[in-house]
Amino acid sequence: MPPDQVRLLLVEDVPQVAQYVRGLLNAQAQVRLVDVVSDGLEALPRIAEHRPDVIVVDSLLQGRLRGMPLVKQLKDSGVGVPIIVLTVPQNPIKVDPKQGIADVLSMPFNGYDLLTHVMGVYKAATTAGDRGPSRIVSVFAPKGGVGKTTLAVNLAVVAAGSGLRTALVDGSIQFGDLRGFLRAPASAPSMLDLPTDRIAESDLAQVMVRGPGDVEILLAPPRVEMAEMVLARDLEKILSLMRRLYDVILVDTGVSLNELTLAFLDQADTILEIVTYDAATVRNAAAMSETFAKIGYPASKVRYLINRGDSVAGMEPAELVTAIGREPEYRIRSEGQVVAPAGNLGAAFVMTNPEAGVSRDVVEVARHLLRLRAGERPASSPAPVGIRGATVGAAG
Ligand SMILES: Nc1ncnc2c1ncn2[C@@H]1O[C@H](COP(=O)(O)OP(=O)(O)OP(=O)(O)O)[C@@H](O)[C@H]1O
Ligand SMILES: [Mg+2]
Repeated sequence: MPPDQVRLLLVEDVPQVAQYVRGLLNAQAQVRLVDVVSDGLEALPRIAEHRPDVIVVDSLLQGRLRGMPLVKQLKDSGVGVPIIVLTVPQNPIKVDPKQGIADVLSMPFNGYDLLTHVMGVYKAATTAGDRGPSRIVSVFAPKGGVGKTTLAVNLAVVAAGSGLRTALVDGSIQFGDLRGFLRAPASAPSMLDLPTDRIAESDLAQVMVRGPGDVEILLAPPRVEMAEMVLARDLEKILSLMRRLYDVILVDTGVSLNELTLAFLDQADTILEIVTYDAATVRNAAAMSETFAKIGYPASKVRYLINRGDSVAGMEPAELVTAIGREPEYRIRSEGQVVAPAGNLGAAFVMTNPEAGVSRDVVEVARHLLRLRAGERPASSPAPVGIRGATVGAAG
């Protein structure tokens, strides 16, 4: 997908109009039509699924939920996505942002009209600083050791460096990979220090530790046997509070598909599944894709990232495509000379080596995945790792 493509969702029950819009958009690359919804009642769930940048609603939409009541419903539910209302000259409608009508497009219109309106409301919404709802990205892998922790840390640093309030959650509850990565001492607070009944914002502030690039990190318990004290419903509560406090929440999940990992996957807006060109990973990825389908996750919830994508190791890339049923969306190159030393220091390579190819790959993935605006850059100077103000051994 080209960078900065604007994602459009159309709510339209007249097939000819939908087809006309599709045709206009096929002729250009700035705006991509992610879905056409013909039933007003379906609009909200499909918006939640696709997370479009702009929504076009036909004011003359018929059915159980008609055009203008739908616009009102979308506004009231706070979807935070600008809506353009389609109408005809006989049915004039006024632009009224307070009523959720960011713009009005009257039929007949041509491709230029459509693009100008879509880009206009999109730009207005993004410059207004409206980032929309927060996003939970659970970084998952069908096999161990493929780069989950490394990539979760580096993606989080890019997100934080571009001005998003960013949290990183150690979802590898048993082994606490992030504690290891950061060289955080066993005394550093963890999710087990949170109350189990009602969690307040101040409780959370007490346990978040500061990592590279000012990313706020929620650590897993310090010892393996403490993992069983963490319950799925605690994780759900923590994430729902975090959604209100952060723009982006990245979760470094554990490998086994247990109840806790499932909680992180269920709560995620996007599952970023890390794969590599290796037979066992590819086999497991195929099995996992069936499992996700059985659980009922829409295919669009999962994004595949091929890590060390330039090291094919005798495997045909097509085997992976067959296994997961599509091309992986993202690719990160292998660059051991950059990744390993940063990892050994508990630092993010996007900070220690911002110009390296692997760092540029991560910035590219973050831009698409988190839909960072063009021009947003990761911070370029490494920061020490501080635990509640104190600095621990791992520095960039
Ligand atoms: N793109 C890359 N280029 C070079 N080395 C990499 C790359 N990505 C990850 N690595 C290396 O691979 C190893 C495994 O990475 P990491 O610990 O992040 O994997 P993981 O999936 O979190 O593993 P686990 O299953 O144990 O949680 C590390 O030594 C890391 O430095
Ligand atoms: Mg890990």
